[in-house]
Amino acid sequence: MVDLFSQYVKIKPLIDGAIQEVIDTSSFIKGKQVATFEANLASWLGTKQVISCANGTDALQIALMALDLKPGDEIIVPAFTYAATAEVIALLGLIPVMADVNTTDFNLNMDSLEGAITPRTKAIIPVHLFGQSSDMEPIMALAEKHNLSVIEDNAQSLGAEYTFSDKKNKKTGTIGHIGCTSFFPTKNLGCFGDGGAIYTDNEELAVKIRMIANHGQKVKYFHQVVGCNSRLDTIQAALLDVKLKYLAEHLAARREAADYYFRALKEATAFRLPTQNENALHTFNQFTVTVEGNERNRLQSWLKEKGVPTMIYYPLPLYKQEAFSGYVQSGFSLPNTEQLCQSVLSLPIHTEMKQDTLAYITETLLEFR
Ligand SMILES: Cc1ncc(COP(=O)(O)O)c(C=O)c1O
Repeated sequence: MVDLFSQYVKIKPLIDGAIQEVIDTSSFIKGKQVATFEANLASWLGTKQVISCANGTDALQIALMALDLKPGDEIIVPAFTYAATAEVIALLGLIPVMADVNTTDFNLNMDSLEGAITPRTKAIIPVHLFGQSSDMEPIMALAEKHNLSVIEDNAQSLGAEYTFSDKKNKKTGTIGHIGCTSFFPTKNLGCFGDGGAIYTDNEELAVKIRMIANHGQKVKYFHQVVGCNSRLDTIQAALLDVKLKYLAEHLAARREAADYYFRALKEATAFRLPTQNENALHTFNQFTVTVEGNERNRLQSWLKEKGVPTMIYYPLPLYKQEAFSGYVQSGFSLPNTEQLCQSVLSLPIHTEMKQDTLAYITETLLEFR
């Protein structure tokens, strides 16, 4: 599904040099590379503050902790996402409320989102799934109308863009009040382990977030709030800073592979290709097709037989996960999420896809009957 090693080999001297420099100074925690990377990422994204942390799940948790929420407050999330988005809500004693997504772009469905709002709703977490922005203009308008905070889960879509109706263009994660991302190795900007970041234009919130991520202290050993130990270590920051310089190139390589799929598979009838919204620049963290008529599992087995790996993101709606059974009434169901869990299939996509690999995958897909 991915080829992280070939990506590394291309920039090996730079990565190795950056790692060695950290080892030479042995400043493994809060070394100078952490602040440098945060500043460089902030400027790349066009946001005021980036606060790095230990992983994308922590980023979401810290963002919620910074909002002064009370137990029982409701946070709306899409039901078709990775569990982390809802997990942190539950961990903090808040209530995850699940809304449906669109079958086209897999992102929050506006009608379902609006229908999920109650007087207890305090925030929305739109997830920019598979590399493409949620429809942020109506989401922000709805949030403003109901006085809700918006935390963007940008774990899968660093570098994606969204264009507003006035043609203003913004990177995902910088549109809501807080953006969260993950540097998990397979993400658009991946490190060599776990890592994450939180971004915001709100300076006051940034101070609080930075404090929460570091045991609730601004000054060492003086703890103002209960926080957590969530830091991006210096080695990860140093190599991420190198990789950030290649991010535009890596995103272009992902789009090139996606373009190949679109061109080669345009006549395919056995499955539907992913939707690219006109007001969104897709980064193709995943290339996910949908297969109608209960044929998805057969297609997956066929591809496996032919040596083509695929993944099902995600096989089960959040509300059907045992962990979240306490948050929904029995029989709760969202039609589009149900349909997608039965029909989605993600094909291999990464920055190092070779033409002959793409040719083999697409030819094999077209042979499926
Ligand atoms: C949508 C989404 N949110 C949050 C996360 C959590 O990120 P991490 O694995 O860095 O904790 C992920 C990771 O896969 C994700 O895909």
